[in-house]
Amino acid sequence: MRIPPLTLASLSFTIGMFPSMLMAQAAPPSNNTSNSTATNTSSVVGEILTPKHPATPRITGPKVFGVRPGNPFLFKVTATGERPMTFSADNLPSGLSLDSSSGMITGTLQERGTNAVTLHAKNAQGETSRLFRIICGDTIALTPALGWNSWNCFAGAVDDAKVRSAADAMVSSGLIDHGWTYINIDDCWEAGRGTNGMIQSNQKFPDMKALSDSIHSKGLKFGIYSSPGPKTCAGYTASYQYEDQDAEQYGKWGVDYVKYDWCSYGKVANAIRTEKYAAMLPADDAAKLKSLADERAAIEVTPGNKRTEEQKSRLKAIDGEFKGVISKLKPEDRERIELEVVQEPYAVFRKSLDKVKRDILFSYCQYGMGKVWEWGEKLGGNSWRTTGDITDTWKSMSGIGFSQDGHEKFAGPGHWNDPDMLVVGQVGWGHPHPSRLTPDEQYTHMSLWALLSSPLLIGCDMSQLDDFTKSLLSNDEVLDVNQDPLGKPAGRISMNGTVQVWARSLEDGSKAVGLFNLGDQPASVSVSWQELGIKGPQIVRDLWRQKDLGSFAEKFEATVPSHGVVLVKIRPAGTAASK
Ligand code: GAL
Repeated sequence: MRIPPLTLASLSFTIGMFPSMLMAQAAPPSNNTSNSTATNTSSVVGEILTPKHPATPRITGPKVFGVRPGNPFLFKVTATGERPMTFSADNLPSGLSLDSSSGMITGTLQERGTNAVTLHAKNAQGETSRLFRIICGDTIALTPALGWNSWNCFAGAVDDAKVRSAADAMVSSGLIDHGWTYINIDDCWEAGRGTNGMIQSNQKFPDMKALSDSIHSKGLKFGIYSSPGPKTCAGYTASYQYEDQDAEQYGKWGVDYVKYDWCSYGKVANAIRTEKYAAMLPADDAAKLKSLADERAAIEVTPGNKRTEEQKSRLKAIDGEFKGVISKLKPEDRERIELEVVQEPYAVFRKSLDKVKRDILFSYCQYGMGKVWEWGEKLGGNSWRTTGDITDTWKSMSGIGFSQDGHEKFAGPGHWNDPDMLVVGQVGWGHPHPSRLTPDEQYTHMSLWALLSSPLLIGCDMSQLDDFTKSLLSNDEVLDVNQDPLGKPAGRISMNGTVQVWARSLEDGSKAVGLFNLGDQPASVSVSWQELGIKGPQIVRDLWRQKDLGSFAEKFEATVPSHGVVLVKIRPAGTAASK
């Protein structure tokens, strides 16, 4: 992304500028020259905007953390700055202790309530402190998850060594110091079932508990994947009718995050759907539905790609006849049944997870069916995919990202919309290549996902992190927008041709605003204080460059490159940037 020099033409001085700021504004914000080129093997050489973090300590990561009473507490205080560093905390509630060299807080809390803690980090260069709220109650994931998932880079080629190397790289790259936490295995780890129906890992994962212990020993958390049908999307053993055993096994392995897909549940759903409809219809219609369902099931024994044309057209006809029968029911009854069908597997697995004495983040992956954002929270989901799978193209990323408007009102602390994982760095679903998104598109991707309070799951090969990708993932001011404790995701506040403005309120009373240009040419994008519901002079801060741009009276305007973004934070003049 290149924000052009802030010339008189590119900013709305006429309405906005304080005369005293004019000189300061006329100079382009300096790029962090010490850090301005990508040096690594990746072919993506974008302009690095994220400044190098100082040697003095700076505490990063979430400012609020939720835990359930009696469950193991696991939180690592993270900070950038020179090592060695020591950590301490004031007012840590009893039951918890902090390891001063690693920053790990462990223990258990029994009492519900909010604990206001002050965290301290100190090194040879100085010290700093930050407020941190620990909320013991029913809700976890008070801020969106930050982590890594194996799918977008390795897909079926994932194995123990690759997951360990991702965890190692999370530490050695320094990303762990910016609050990145989860190391999640996606599909393709499963084998069959052993004694008492307990799920086994396949030979690529010889010892899941040892892997989990190793991830935890680094101060990271461990995630896993399953599906509610008999098979996962990649055809491995999934959780259908073994939900309790799977949740129990995950608890034993020390799992902190479960991504729960939908694959192969379709057939189960059809059977449930038929039962529910049949129960509401006269006997002859009910019998007709059941015979159609049986016929469908008999055809579906043949895998989709091996079905004859005749079988395919019969399936279509069955659907038509089925719809014809159920059209006798009231639309609201049909809607209710359809909703119950898509909700059922998530309600079932929620119950299984609740039997485990561990805080396991529950992430639904059912692509937005039944408007999941409207009920995901009620059913105890901590996040839910709102769309199909992302890929590393502008069409896919922008199509998903910019279609999230309206979902924001359903998300908040403990329950997040998930427009899918990040496609920056070396991605490729088993065929690694540098992301096909241009640098400007990658800034758009990160900025939009931060504004949306999306879980941020890095999808690249962590052992191949280039400097540009690392800079995208280590900008604490951008990550702070994603992790803001108020948990109010952005919505679109204006759209004019190919330019759009998305904005959200932050806990400190400021606004985070993305000025996006989806067009093929640079474009001027502006936002007025009126559109943001604020008044009076405001300081505008460029979040990627971590630099105040000046004070503006009524609006801010910038020239934004094609497919790029200018991401700013707007706070009342006279207030300091919050830390
Ligand atoms: C898809 C899911 C992907 C990945 C894949 C694994 O349904 O959307 O993110 O998990 O299954 O098979």
